[in-house]
Amino acid sequence: MDPIGWGVLGPGRIARVFARDLLLVPDAHLVATGSRSHERAAAFAGELGGTAYGSYEELVADPAVDVVYVASPHSLHAEHTMLALEAGKHVLCEKPMTLEAGTTQELFDAARERGLFLMEAMWMATNPVIRTMCRLLAAGGHGTPRQVHADLGFLVQTDPTDRLVDPALGGGALLDMGIYPLTLAHLVLGEPESLVGVANVVGGIDLDVSVAGRYAGGATAALTASMTAQSPRTATVATDTGCFHLPRDFHAPTQVQWVAPDGTDWAPVEWIEPDEPVIGVGYGNEIVEVHRCLRAGETTSSVVPPEQTVSLMRQLDDVREQIGVHY
Ligand SMILES: NC(=O)c1ccc[n+]([C@@H]2O[C@H](COP(=O)([O-])OP(=O)(O)OC[C@H]3O[C@@H](n4cnc5c(N)ncnc54)[C@H](OP(=O)(O)O)[C@@H]3O)[C@@H](O)[C@H]2O)c1
Repeated sequence: MDPIGWGVLGPGRIARVFARDLLLVPDAHLVATGSRSHERAAAFAGELGGTAYGSYEELVADPAVDVVYVASPHSLHAEHTMLALEAGKHVLCEKPMTLEAGTTQELFDAARERGLFLMEAMWMATNPVIRTMCRLLAAGGHGTPRQVHADLGFLVQTDPTDRLVDPALGGGALLDMGIYPLTLAHLVLGEPESLVGVANVVGGIDLDVSVAGRYAGGATAALTASMTAQSPRTATVATDTGCFHLPRDFHAPTQVQWVAPDGTDWAPVEWIEPDEPVIGVGYGNEIVEVHRCLRAGETTSSVVPPEQTVSLMRQLDDVREQIGVHY
């Protein structure tokens, strides 16, 4: 099999971790990196391989690049995804795909019109442990899911220009971290019927956010994200027969526990192994899913489908409106 050539756009924090997993996927080839600075691209390429370009335009023009991994701040994803699509490249775009649902839909339309692949890099959804848990739930042997609790947070101590806290770059806990708890609830319970959000908004961005959700059949979710707390970063999915527990960090699990009442007591914890191994820290499985789609000639992924990505953007829009965060 010919390797699939990857180009990295925006060699920041996550691009480094992603590229390390890329090197673990046998038919993936890190062809090139594009940065606004040739020096930064060269440092990245020196560490991880490939050609260094001092502009994104040169990166997407490289004929050896089949798929571009967009790893710039959220507010630039739309511009950079379009740049790659217009150059005829497939795209894996970091989460959240854009700042609001309409633009996300436009990107999927643009990819479809060009016959190119586009997927949001929602690596939690391609994680084998999450997929195994969802498969078990869908099979019905673990009861009906009734309640999701999920949290993601860490203490952010950074300068005001950091994309995490800069409103111009889409800063805030909801879009950076809250998207994971919301996505977990969506994967397990489907589209919400209603979401209610509250937040601690400082300097135009949400540092802390809590969302309560109601889903079909009266299932509910309690979802939190924080930039001011060393929060538990765990999740539980409770059904009418027991409870899946995803330990810290729930969005990148290597195992999941199943705990269920056994008569008057609780059964010993059962650790459930995933159907497939986690590759690297999990970005490897996301890369494998992109490869599977490209080799099958598919322009969207059934594991991270456009409908899900657009729905999640709508959910984020809804909560942002309620908490008064406007970009
Ligand atoms: N999947 C995950 O697990 C995960 C984890 C963390 C973040 N993310 C997502 O990945 C994206 C990047 O996050 P990150 O933490 O890697 O950010 P980061 O460290 O700030 O890196 C972003 C990169 O984008 C480029 N960039 C282009 N225009 C920029 C601008 N105006 N300001 C700042 N940087 C600019 C920069 O590279 P050059 O200037 O060198 O081109 C920068 O290094 C975000 O959308 C985030 O939500 C995903």
